[in-house]
Amino acid sequence: MSTPRAKPKYYLTTPLYYTNGLPHIGHTYSTIVADVIRRFKRMRGFDVTMTTGADEHGVNVERSAKKAGMSPQEFSTSIAVQWKKIWDDFDIAGDEFIRTTDERHHRTVQWLFKRCRDNGYIEKGSYTGQYCVHDNAYVVEAGPGDPCPDCGRPTETVTEENYFFKLSEFQQKLLDFYAANPDFIKPESRRNEVLSFVQGGLRNLSITRTTIKWGIPVPGESPHVFYVWFDALIGYLSAVGGPEFDQRGLWPADLHIVGKEIIRFHAVYWPAFLMAADLPLPRQIWAHGWLLFDSEKMSKSRGNVVRPRPIVSVLGIEPLRYYLLREIVFGQDGGFSYDALVTRYNGDLANGLGNLASRTLTMIERYFGGEIPQPAIAQGKENYAPGSADFASEALTRITQLYERLGFSLALESIWELVAAIDKYLSVEKPWTLADKPEDRARLGTVLYTAAEGLRIIAALAHPVLPQATQKIWRQLGQTDVLGDVQLDLLSWGQLKPGTKTGKPEGIFPRVEKSEAIERIEAMEQEQNKDVTSPATSPAPSATPAAAGAAAAPATSPVTPAVTPKIGIEDFAKVEMRVGLVKSAERVAGADKLLQLQVDIGEEVRQIVAGLALAYKPEDLVGRKVVVVTNLQPRKLRGVESNGMIVAASAAPDGSPVLAGFLEDVPVGARLK
Ligand code: MSP
Repeated sequence: MSTPRAKPKYYLTTPLYYTNGLPHIGHTYSTIVADVIRRFKRMRGFDVTMTTGADEHGVNVERSAKKAGMSPQEFSTSIAVQWKKIWDDFDIAGDEFIRTTDERHHRTVQWLFKRCRDNGYIEKGSYTGQYCVHDNAYVVEAGPGDPCPDCGRPTETVTEENYFFKLSEFQQKLLDFYAANPDFIKPESRRNEVLSFVQGGLRNLSITRTTIKWGIPVPGESPHVFYVWFDALIGYLSAVGGPEFDQRGLWPADLHIVGKEIIRFHAVYWPAFLMAADLPLPRQIWAHGWLLFDSEKMSKSRGNVVRPRPIVSVLGIEPLRYYLLREIVFGQDGGFSYDALVTRYNGDLANGLGNLASRTLTMIERYFGGEIPQPAIAQGKENYAPGSADFASEALTRITQLYERLGFSLALESIWELVAAIDKYLSVEKPWTLADKPEDRARLGTVLYTAAEGLRIIAALAHPVLPQATQKIWRQLGQTDVLGDVQLDLLSWGQLKPGTKTGKPEGIFPRVEKSEAIERIEAMEQEQNKDVTSPATSPAPSATPAAAGAAAAPATSPVTPAVTPKIGIEDFAKVEMRVGLVKSAERVAGADKLLQLQVDIGEEVRQIVAGLALAYKPEDLVGRKVVVVTNLQPRKLRGVESNGMIVAASAAPDGSPVLAGFLEDVPVGARLK
């Protein structure tokens, strides 16, 4: 007897995310994509390992920790733990979570540095930049005399001794490597960008700092610590054995998934570090585009982020996975919209796949007592496209190839063409009519067998994107194995055995009412879109001012930071609150909880959208004095711009808002202190 051959290994990574904030759906997108590839590769026979993790060192984390009144280690740990928990909750955590504060990472960085140094690629030099003494940080974007963008104080020109990596020696080696490995950088546009960057010449890279404390020490070279990229990138290797990488057999990585803004670090610095250390280079780097919100890159600094938890609480993780992969062409930028998300959910998942599964299984239960019927014709001879063996095998090959090239959008489009074809087939064949006549019994069996077998193939093909829903369908079709273990290459038309007992048909994607779903997501979003570094992170159930700019606080548990940082008076002073007078109020169309108000705040009249409609009638608000937070970034709620927030208490037990007000008379526009 021959022993089964070991599966080939496949190793992929997401970026290691900074711990100066919590994930938004841009980060979630990268992690979802990696998880889809991980599941797909398993179905192609690989033993897959996926790494994600946290990039914890550097000035930004140091600063955020200081603001929160915590040590960098404490602060960063509290955030890293939350990242991990979010990925776990979404079932996209991968297999390894590497933190750059892990001991296994420290020793890998130090080891790699030593190898580069022993090979003659490290030298001492001096680095000159604009430095903010107050914030203890270089301000890369500042020129001599410029102020610090963070604190406004003047920056100073500082020169410090650094270790440099001799990147300039790798120009030709990298160009030769790119030429020999045309698929190393994907997509093509990024490859061209990197090529012209390297062709333009490479400057040596400063890789240590003496002005920062929060970093990995350079052994024997105190006070030097490693700086940013000669730390984080190495995490991919630390996660799978570091110096002993041979033992797990996972290095070199097969694929690094990154966002386009960090392609240069991955496609230039990282291979150069590895070449300098005589280590194998990763096989491929794929840079995806950005998720845009209102046509701008979603990012914390722009204040336009969408958080994943509210979406997942209202719709579930699978609709988000499907939407992101279906809607965005992998490698390109794509706009994010709640409207499109819910439209996809209702159209493709509830009415599409969910409905096909439930009608097919319900008819099999009703007409064949819950047993897969015997088709009355020879396998593969059914006229309609989805019932033909050729059609299925063509689709299987084509869709597998699309996944292989990370063409998720096209792959899903093709799978949903199968859904539509079978739906149409059922509408044409009308099994419910065939069921009326005993002489059509054989035909009825053929039709329902064909639909069920088509559904089985669809479930397998969609599994990497919709792991839970397709596993449910798989079970309902009477399949006892784990769908994730099924090999796509062994799948073919006709494997569904007549006589198999089917499970009880149950709804997989219940339809949702669009405006209500969006409203609920936005309400939760507003509540949660407060970063751990912001003052109001930990709402007490009854006494904390609720953001009435949003609807009432959600009942489900938000991403609660592990700590409630104390803030200094200077942080509080940043919030501008004024007495406002409500001039007019009306309901926002299609949103139960929202009112659109015009509020006089002294020097101007502001439009504010507030989640007050369940607690106050519009006409009762007109003429009332309210407290307005006036210096918030404008934000759109249900497409209506809101320029400020009305302060209210979130009243227990149902969390409905109660407006803050005054016992004495106060002039409109007066500032609250
Ligand atoms: N810590 C570095 C990466 C080090 S990798 C060794 C970093 N971290 S990050 O927290 O800023 O995450 C950046 C990554 O998050 C991007 O490369 C991308 O994968 C993802 N995204 C962040 N914003 C995004 C969008 N708006 N859209 C899509 N993805 C985005 O950079």
